[in-house]
Amino acid sequence: MIPQVELGDTGQKIPILAIGTYGFKNKDAMKSALIYAYELGINHIDTAEMYSGAEEIVGEVIKLVGRKNLFITTKVLPHNGSFKKVLLACDRSLRKLGTDYVDLYLLHFYTAQYPLEETLSAFEYLTKEGKIRFYGVSNFELMEYDILKNFVSNFKIQNNQVDYNVSNALYVEDKILPIYSRHKITISGYSPFWQGRSPSRKIIDVLESVAKKYGKTLHQVILNFLTRTRNIFVIFKSENIEHIKENLDSLSFSLDQEDIKKILDVCRKR
Ligand SMILES: NC(=O)c1ccc[n+]([C@@H]2O[C@H](COP(=O)([O-])OP(=O)(O)OC[C@H]3O[C@@H](n4cnc5c(N)ncnc54)[C@H](OP(=O)(O)O)[C@@H]3O)[C@@H](O)[C@H]2O)c1
Repeated sequence: MIPQVELGDTGQKIPILAIGTYGFKNKDAMKSALIYAYELGINHIDTAEMYSGAEEIVGEVIKLVGRKNLFITTKVLPHNGSFKKVLLACDRSLRKLGTDYVDLYLLHFYTAQYPLEETLSAFEYLTKEGKIRFYGVSNFELMEYDILKNFVSNFKIQNNQVDYNVSNALYVEDKILPIYSRHKITISGYSPFWQGRSPSRKIIDVLESVAKKYGKTLHQVILNFLTRTRNIFVIFKSENIEHIKENLDSLSFSLDQEDIKKILDVCRKR
């Protein structure tokens, strides 16, 4: 079984690896990939109103595997962050997903166009209506924390989804995680593979040398490293069945302390 992480203080456990849907190239491949990931135990799908065509694909997967078997996260854009617009956006997402509830609904990022309290009030209303089970935010770092902290006692914010890769792991783990964990807000990490772009040569060299030692791939070392603390769940995107299998197998070994240190060192020096 895939290790699980608790979402906030909900008691809901979710797998440490989730599959995302941003920027997919081929609709059928993405759909098959989501079904394959589900069959391997990755039942958490991350999508957003912003990811053109993705919610519809997730809707097709829901029809095939059954709503109860999936944990679905979707996101509302900040320009839809007024009370009324959040309700409309949520209804639109539900229609595209072909379901009557979302498990986790996030504010995609913060722009101050609408007061955060208003957006969170809409999330609270949607929870009472049964249209969302849990809610949270995304891309909230240190500056946004100063705003969010004023609302943590009145709103049950369960998740903050942030950029998380080998280059910024120390920042996320040492700066972001502690302040949000204080309020039982679980951190999730997106773009573990830099959205398919290459990091610096220095980082690649260290990751490749560690991968060689364990007989694993670079992507497996990355995911193993990012999931090592077992308290951040990581969202990768893949529409390739071989890659999904490879990514899941990242959980089948443990990195020695000395290799974790090597990766942390390059992260420090980047
Ligand atoms: N909240 C936010 O603002 C935010 C921002 C960005 C992303 N996200 C979420 O996080 C998800 C993941 O992030 P991402 O899509 O930006 O990028 P990512 O997961 O860092 O990278 C995706 C790229 O990595 C490739 N890949 C995956 N596994 C591989 C493997 N084993 N070997 C070689 N290549 C591999 C994929 O190609 P293949 O498809 O060919 O495998 C794709 O090109 C998104 O889909 C989205 O759901 C959220």
